Amino acid sequence: MDLPIKRISAHARREKSIRHGHISTLHIWWARRPLAACRAVICASLWPDPADELCPEAFRKTARAEMTKWARQNLGLLGQESFPRFNRLAKNGKKLDDNVEIRKALFDFIADFANWDNSTVKEYLETARALTQTAHEALGGASGSRPLIVDPFAGGGSIPLEALRVGADAFASDLNPIAVLLNKVVLEYIPMYGQHLADEVRKWGEWIKEAAEKELAEFYPKDPDGATPIAYLWARTINCEGPGCGAEVPILPSRLLEKSRDRSIWINLSGKGGSVHITIHQGSVAEQNLNGTAKRGSVTCPCCGYTTPIARVREQLKKSGGGVKTARLLAVAVVHSKNGVRDYRLPHESDYQALAKAAKEIIRLRYTNPDFFPDETLPLMSGVFNVPLYGHNTWSSLYSDRQLLLLITLCRLVKKVGEKVDSKKDVGFASATVTMLSLAIGKVADYSTSICTWVQSGAFIGHTFAQGQCLPMKFDFAEGVPLVGYSGSWEGAIDWGCRIIEREADALLHVGQSELVSATAQSLPDDTASCLITDPPYYNAVPYADLSDFFYVWHRRTLGSLHSDLFQLKEAPKAEEICEMSGWDPDRYGNKTAAFFENEIGKAFADSRRVLSPTGIGVVVFAHKTTSGWEAMLQALVSAGWTITASWPIDTEMAARLRARNSAVLASSIHLVCRPRENADCTVSKTDIGDWRDVLAELPNRIHDWMPRLADEGVVGADAIFACIGPALEVFSRYSRVEKASGEAVTLKEYLEHVWAAVSKEALKMIFEGADAFGFEEDARLTAMWLWTVATTEKEESLTAEGAEEEDEKIKKKTTGGFSLEYDAARKIAQGLGAHLEDLGHLVEIQGETAVLLPVAARTRYLFGKDSTEAPRGRPKKKDKQLTLGFEGELKQIEEESGDWTGEFKGKAGKTVLDQVHQSMILFAAGRSEALKRFLVEDGIGRNFLFWRLAQSLSALYPTSTNEKRWVDGVLARKKGLGF
Ligand SMILES: C[S@@+](CC[C@H](N)C(=O)[O-])C[C@H]1O[C@@H](n2cnc3c(N)ncnc32)[C@H](O)[C@@H]1O
Ligand SMILES: [Zn+2]
Repeated sequence: MDLPIKRISAHARREKSIRHGHISTLHIWWARRPLAACRAVICASLWPDPADELCPEAFRKTARAEMTKWARQNLGLLGQESFPRFNRLAKNGKKLDDNVEIRKALFDFIADFANWDNSTVKEYLETARALTQTAHEALGGASGSRPLIVDPFAGGGSIPLEALRVGADAFASDLNPIAVLLNKVVLEYIPMYGQHLADEVRKWGEWIKEAAEKELAEFYPKDPDGATPIAYLWARTINCEGPGCGAEVPILPSRLLEKSRDRSIWINLSGKGGSVHITIHQGSVAEQNLNGTAKRGSVTCPCCGYTTPIARVREQLKKSGGGVKTARLLAVAVVHSKNGVRDYRLPHESDYQALAKAAKEIIRLRYTNPDFFPDETLPLMSGVFNVPLYGHNTWSSLYSDRQLLLLITLCRLVKKVGEKVDSKKDVGFASATVTMLSLAIGKVADYSTSICTWVQSGAFIGHTFAQGQCLPMKFDFAEGVPLVGYSGSWEGAIDWGCRIIEREADALLHVGQSELVSATAQSLPDDTASCLITDPPYYNAVPYADLSDFFYVWHRRTLGSLHSDLFQLKEAPKAEEICEMSGWDPDRYGNKTAAFFENEIGKAFADSRRVLSPTGIGVVVFAHKTTSGWEAMLQALVSAGWTITASWPIDTEMAARLRARNSAVLASSIHLVCRPRENADCTVSKTDIGDWRDVLAELPNRIHDWMPRLADEGVVGADAIFACIGPALEVFSRYSRVEKASGEAVTLKEYLEHVWAAVSKEALKMIFEGADAFGFEEDARLTAMWLWTVATTEKEESLTAEGAEEEDEKIKKKTTGGFSLEYDAARKIAQGLGAHLEDLGHLVEIQGETAVLLPVAARTRYLFGKDSTEAPRGRPKKKDKQLTLGFEGELKQIEEESGDWTGEFKGKAGKTVLDQVHQSMILFAAGRSEALKRFLVEDGIGRNFLFWRLAQSLSALYPTSTNEKRWVDGVLARKKGLGF
């Protein structure tokens, strides 16, 4: 079935800001898929299209009845999103009798069900399950059985969770033990034990809190005035290498402690007598004046002014194993008991005494219980884990003594719970309880390392993986007090986990299954699954196994005996992990090249096809930054015996962010729909040979059919290009081999070039609304197609607060910096339009992997200069000038140079229509209305209808916030006045 892409995407993006009860708050897992997208995709995979001639009549009948019932029942439930179709039906008591109408009703249902708020509402669940059940039986499933959905790359469990929700069975596997653990909770524990589990976890969570408070009280003393410390703010230190100095200097990027609307709090550092003194201040001050001692890793001494370079800073920290032991406590954030006000103070003697006690306790534990310590290696991975560059070579080295003591205590208490809960009654229930408690330790650990920084704008502790899938070095850090209910608290971790159980308890009817196994050798028998829905690793985006060791080393210590199948190894298994990572770590992963990735992912696709029933359906999520990555994945899928039939670009926050950067637009997540290309006996067919001429003839028709449907859904630009890949590939991948007349096989790569061309041509037809796009020169065609591809419509709204600042910068840049595309994508688009990037240097600038469509202002000299072959590119001197002059200044300069400066600018008309439109835009922007009039009227440029046609199209294509948009609209506004 098709999908209401736009509406689902909006829900997927909104979901990112939802926290309570969402499985992402159970534990960190990287690059999780939004549940909204998973839910919708699963519905569309399980339910046939009523308007399709092959749809079983039984399903149509149920769909008709269910949709009518649902509409009537839920009129009250339908809020803002209520669709007229349902309202009409409900009010008139009318029947859905047309198959296309039933399809539309199902679309509305799927779109509405994708809403997080509706995902646990009884009426939605019952309707979805009824449809799933009927579809399954109508398509040949045994009566009373449920369709099985498999996900062999299950990760954090979004896909299998949604499979259960819509009434299917779910089988989730992953190579990573932590992923399997998370799936166990979601698919087994929550459906099995529900609210009862949440109650038990809360009970034991409280018990642990009380026990830990008692055990650890002496290490976290309260202030004599009754205030409670909530965070200790530290900085690593170096000894100044200035001649004769040697002062111990805190490495501090910023002196700001807290910034809110009404106050700033900061510290001052002064160097006296060879040591650095600290004072705390409050008032109003500009943030930029609060620079600390460190700038890009080099450290300037407040005593002597000498700057110790980064290489030496690194050396010094390396010597002390990361510098946590030699860090200095700068300040303590406290909350006053009387009024709850937050305050900052300098360290007290009692703080140092507590720290000394913790250090002593750690020495004792190291002696008595060395196994408690996660001393497993933390490997250096270029650009991913850079903390080892500073001496953090073991996981335990990331923590201070007191942080270690806290985590070790929690682990010990969780294990004790394991002994105390009555496992005689129900072993599974006891395991579930202890597993949930251990996951809470994972959450606390994430907030308890020496790379957690203090977030000054909100006065809370940022977590270890705040920057995503990496471990970047931080010189200053905030140590929390997880037993008081502040950021990263134990109580909070328990609560987040329990809220998920409580929310989903009633929504998941039956139990799923999870297993630790590689996707390349799955354990299910042949032909058992109805659907394969999966989100495989993205080439080299996330090193899951290495990242997961951060948690694995703790969970193995608490859960090793409970889940002995998951924690046999000292670290998470790596050898079979599918990821291209030779570049990150050539020593350990020299073999994990692009070829390894392609080979292994191919095996996984082949084994997935084996597991799927011959009539089953597959959906594979792809998110790649490069066209070559795409081609490799598609090739692997086709070679593994799959026919691709459709593709849904469903927007996720990640895609939106990459998009907003206005580059790498091809990073949208695409759901590729595919089916096994098998003979009746389930062997892959090898003998159906396609004729290249037929394939080529069918391609444009396919694209022609699809594009308008996408446009109706609001899908444009790169999303539309990818949405066309599915149908385009169906034409090709239904054959085991496509041959030219000579008998030579056509490669997928060659075919994809044709797909790009066909898509570009079709898109242009739409852009120019029926006008013959080929009436325009190649520069106009390329510009139009380019702008269409980078179209950012609405996407920027979905940025999260944390990303917004960074994005703002980028968006600002966009208004002056042109429009960029991945070079290879740009090349393909150009080629598809019969244009050559290499000949268009005055329009497009190539910067390494990126191609930039120049901003119009940057074309001033090319358009008006004496020698119009002068490209802005390759003339650095002129370009420098241009930057300082701005285009108005440059225009003036050109006039002076040409010697015809009479106060009436006489620019000659450009060669192409695009050049002419750009010229008039520049004249408009420079306020030269007389010159613009002469240009359009006297020179006759405005009499060419193509000129206005192009201006009109460009007005629709330039993003709203750009100069270009304002300028072209300015030109268009004069059209009538000038008599055209
Ligand atoms: C993109 S993630 C899946 C994320 C998941 N859809 C979610 O929403 O959380 C890819 C997963 O593939 C797993 N993986 C990598 N190599 C594997 C292999 N050979 N077999 C099974 N799983 C593997 C990783 O551990 C990771 O969890
Ligand atoms: Zn010094």
